[in-house]
Amino acid sequence: MSNNKITRRFFIGSGLVGTFTLLNAERVWAKKEEPKIIVGMQKSETVKEDSYTLKIQGNPKSIQLLQVTDIHFNPYRKDKNVDETTRDIVKKLLDLTQPHLLAVTGDVWNENAFGRGLMYLEQAAEFFGSLNIPWFYTWGNHDMLSDYAKGHDILALAKNSMYRGGINEGNYHVIIENESNKKLWRMVCLNSNRYGLMNEQRQWIDQWCNKNTDVIPTFMACHIPIYQYHTIWENKIASGVKFEKVCYEKEQGESLPFLKKIPGLKACICGHDHVNDYSGVIEGIDLIYGRATGKGGYGADSVPKGGKLYSLYPSTGEYEWVSVTPNNKRWHPVKGTQIEKIEELPWQDELEKE
Ligand SMILES: [Fe+2]
Repeated sequence: MSNNKITRRFFIGSGLVGTFTLLNAERVWAKKEEPKIIVGMQKSETVKEDSYTLKIQGNPKSIQLLQVTDIHFNPYRKDKNVDETTRDIVKKLLDLTQPHLLAVTGDVWNENAFGRGLMYLEQAAEFFGSLNIPWFYTWGNHDMLSDYAKGHDILALAKNSMYRGGINEGNYHVIIENESNKKLWRMVCLNSNRYGLMNEQRQWIDQWCNKNTDVIPTFMACHIPIYQYHTIWENKIASGVKFEKVCYEKEQGESLPFLKKIPGLKACICGHDHVNDYSGVIEGIDLIYGRATGKGGYGADSVPKGGKLYSLYPSTGEYEWVSVTPNNKRWHPVKGTQIEKIEELPWQDELEKE
């Protein structure tokens, strides 16, 4: 269990306090637009493609992918500087790493209290669009809206966006090609909604595999970890840091056999558990946690906010990752190390004190 001071439970609880404070002031609005859950989200056919092709100039030896996750923007929180600090973190990480593309793996905004979800999404899409880099997005469990069809459109039509999940309830893929149209790498983006990868996503993977048989080095991206993130830690396969239980929600391990059907799949990248940063290979698939990014999320007292930089080598299908903080501290765990105690952390000077 977590021994960090700000836990997931506290984080959810503090969100509820904020919600309650706003409730009296805006009761009428709240009645009009009730928050809805993501499961069974509407589709949109405004953008009919379910894939995006990203052309990279020249023929680079490696592709640099920066992942940010668990952004947790909430302009209505008491401390107004938190979101600005998170935006600064993202910008600094981009400056430091100069990636070819950006992955945003969910929990970008803060529920849909008083029907504000769409406004949060619009602001976030504008921010990511302003960064001058192609970006893709996967849905997080906190990313809630009253109108998901509109949400798909905002995401797909935003500047520099590669999101193409509108017609498949948030599932799509991105292909990275060089100038001569050679496919270098592929990202399969899944909507893990509130419960993890359930039957509907597994069925989508099956249908997708029937149509996409090319063997290309591939990563899968989603927000909620699959069950085997738990197994790799418990069986000492994983290396890294772990300060909370793996929150695989309702998924119970059934998804891995489906993921293994994806041709060329090397690794899964996810977010959700802010104070876990580790990876390990199970049945040929590398399960990798992103580094939580947003100051509005719990966990900076044990795992400093940052991002994860992946170097992808298309000619061999190999890849490397390193977690990066805005101070340019870079970290990859020594193979075989499992850290669960604050005093064993290598980044003592970067921990946020309460
Ligand atoms: Fe989450």
